[in-house]
Amino acid sequence: MNHEQDRAKERIAVELERSRRRSNGLTLDALNDEGLLAQHSKLMSPLVWDLAHIGNYEEQWLLRAAGGRESLRPDIDRLYDAFENPRAERVTLPLLTPEEAAEYNDRVRGQVLDVLDEVDISPAVPGQREGCDPHRALLDSGFVFHMVIQHEHQHDETMLATHQLRKGEPVLLDTSGDVAPLSPPAATEVLVPAGPFTMGASDDPWAYDNEHPAHTVDLPAFWIDTRLVTNAEYLRFMDDGGYRTRHWWSREGWEWLNRRNAIAPAFWSREGQEWSRRRFGRNEMVPSEEPVQHVSFHEAQAYARWAGKRLPTEAEWEKAARFDPDTGRSTRYPWGDGEPEPRHANLGQRRLGPSPAGRHPDGASPLGVQQLIGDVWEWTSTTFDGYTGFHAFPYREYSEVFFDEGYKVLRGGSWATHPTAVRSTFRNWDHPIRRQIFSGVRCARDAEPV
Ligand code: AVJ
Ligand code: FE
Repeated sequence: MNHEQDRAKERIAVELERSRRRSNGLTLDALNDEGLLAQHSKLMSPLVWDLAHIGNYEEQWLLRAAGGRESLRPDIDRLYDAFENPRAERVTLPLLTPEEAAEYNDRVRGQVLDVLDEVDISPAVPGQREGCDPHRALLDSGFVFHMVIQHEHQHDETMLATHQLRKGEPVLLDTSGDVAPLSPPAATEVLVPAGPFTMGASDDPWAYDNEHPAHTVDLPAFWIDTRLVTNAEYLRFMDDGGYRTRHWWSREGWEWLNRRNAIAPAFWSREGQEWSRRRFGRNEMVPSEEPVQHVSFHEAQAYARWAGKRLPTEAEWEKAARFDPDTGRSTRYPWGDGEPEPRHANLGQRRLGPSPAGRHPDGASPLGVQQLIGDVWEWTSTTFDGYTGFHAFPYREYSEVFFDEGYKVLRGGSWATHPTAVRSTFRNWDHPIRRQIFSGVRCARDAEPV
């Protein structure tokens, strides 16, 4: 009876399958049991924890909450609760073995496909979403399935960070030679005109609670760089004594730098006059035209100050990434509303790193800002908080418990982010000291008032 709904369900089934193939590729297909059970860094979970956590989350939201099914393994919920168990302690838990985790995930997935068949995921009548019952709200336009697909891909990105921290022989296929054509923007920065724009998501069945509600933000004019900061540019900051000059750093940033004895981005080491880096178990010279990666918020901020600029606020970033001055509309992506294609952005682990700066002209914003989506997460100066009118949905622990705790917002996704898990409204956050994530820098600056 309902063609639309069948198409939506087919898409969900495809994306569920894709995310699982990716997760298995990063775990069961990549490492032996020892490598999966080991804790490769204090900052990260053992990979086998992520693997079963993915299945457990899927069981809780798709089998139990959406499908009304009984729990398959009530005994393991606590083990895979991220709040019960800090990352550093997960290695000490009686976790499922890799084989058990694989079996459990398969069992969950089999039943999930039955649930997908049974449920009604049609859109709620506009205006009635707010008041409708919680079960209906979960299923509305397929939201809870989209949430679970994104959750799995988010953990896949986290697992890639674990792989990057892991010592030992490379196990991931390196496809980084394959690069989109070079097409540098004409100008190094563009002026985003003053005025209102729509920030946040209104009618997007993939958006998380923290992207709501859509609201109007009126910003003064500002300049934003059309390109991401490259390794070559970052090296000039280093060569100019950037890490030894108190002036460029905030108080917190300077404390962090001294505590860590930081002298370069994470994973870099000096070889004579040159810098090399370790990347997924391989050593290589730092490529000058690639966007700088693995910098903390403090490093991003210090670089921007040294360059005579600043980090964009979160609102500025979003305006640059979706506002079309010709139509006055906000689109889902910088290039419009169409789904991301490889020509638009480097997403989804197609390569094991960012594209060099000055690529993906087809993904540029109307004003000509490139690589806003994909390549590296971009630090903003904004502390993570709820928009006015925020309400947690479907659970407080996704976003709300992190509000106003000193987490900084990152925008735009990285090369490791799946296309389903990023859009111009998507909000990520992390501690300002973190740099194992695929984070980089884009600068902005104030415009002179006219
Ligand atoms: C949105 C990336 C900060 O990894 O902590 C995964 C995503 N939430 N499982 C995180 C998430 C629950 C979250 N980040
Ligand atoms: Fe999770």
